[in-house]
Amino acid sequence: MTQIDTTTDSTDDKVLARAAQALKQGDLVVFPTETVYGLGADASQDVAVARIFAAKNRPNFNPLIVHVASLEIAECFGVFCDPARALAQAFWPGPLSLVVPRTDDCPASLLVSAGLDSIALRVPESHIAQALLTRSQLGIAAPSANPSGALSPTDATHIAPSIREAAAVVVDGGPCRVGLESTIVGFEGDRPVLLRPGGIAVEEIEKIVGPLAAAAHNSKAPTSPGQLLSHYAPSAKVRLNATDVRADEALLRFGKSALPEGRAMAEKNLSPTGDLVEAASHLFQYLRDLDASGACTIAVEPLPATGLGLAINDRLARAAAPRNESPS
Ligand code: TXA
Ligand code: MG
Repeated sequence: MTQIDTTTDSTDDKVLARAAQALKQGDLVVFPTETVYGLGADASQDVAVARIFAAKNRPNFNPLIVHVASLEIAECFGVFCDPARALAQAFWPGPLSLVVPRTDDCPASLLVSAGLDSIALRVPESHIAQALLTRSQLGIAAPSANPSGALSPTDATHIAPSIREAAAVVVDGGPCRVGLESTIVGFEGDRPVLLRPGGIAVEEIEKIVGPLAAAAHNSKAPTSPGQLLSHYAPSAKVRLNATDVRADEALLRFGKSALPEGRAMAEKNLSPTGDLVEAASHLFQYLRDLDASGACTIAVEPLPATGLGLAINDRLARAAAPRNESPS
């Protein structure tokens, strides 16, 4: 990416217009929120979302927070139980993310949820973030704008060169007011669970919904950010590095596959051209599709362990792991 724009003026319409346009085209945009800077993509575009993981150089898929302009729009993406709605009404716009079940017609890419049936949603308070959301009319999937393993940027000057290069536009809003990531609350049924402490104090949240439960081990909730114990696993078994395929299997191909056509019960190719970003963008959808074929096993062709291939292989290894153990 070559075009880099900066502004410290949140009302600079030209930069916001370019940022909104870039998002619609499927490009990445770095933008400020009141917590930390985010690396954003149109949440509904599979390939755009896959580019986020590639830009961060993540070795695995972590689900992402989708930023929206209002609670009303959030309800198109997620199903809000009463305590979730009460928290949204009390703290949005602001540094609180709510993990709720995806709606049946959720417009967000499955990659946003890393294959889970839930989605993290947040209405940011930052005027620039709000302006970008309103202008683009999108849900913006955005993790913190740092390379994997580095600190979250709270000023545009902190943004790493590799992240700048991956973005079509960098919107500079100066230092972030809160400077700490959002608090994340999920729900076990209607029971609110603290998934990550952050910009809104737990005491403030408890004033609205009562005591928060700690995320239980072995539940669907991560015990700490990124440590998801129970990702979506297909009901079929997963057989990795397949170099042959049986008639009662479904087949997940990658690249120029040498395996015979028409032998498996169902088949998909993650990327016939061997493009790992494209492969990541299809991964969760294709696993679901092949699972729905009723095959007892999904045979998966080998994928390179470079670039996004690392994260794809990590996810496939979890899907192939024995089911009665929690993947770590
Ligand atoms: O303040 C923030 O939250 C910033 C700004 C940019 O909004 N974003 C941020 O994103 O910190 P990120 O990706 O660095 O952290 C999001 C965390 C992840 O650790 C992930 O585990 C959790 O949110 N998360 C997202 N979706 C989830 C889901 N469906 N279930 C459980 N946890 C989820
Ligand atoms: Mg982060």
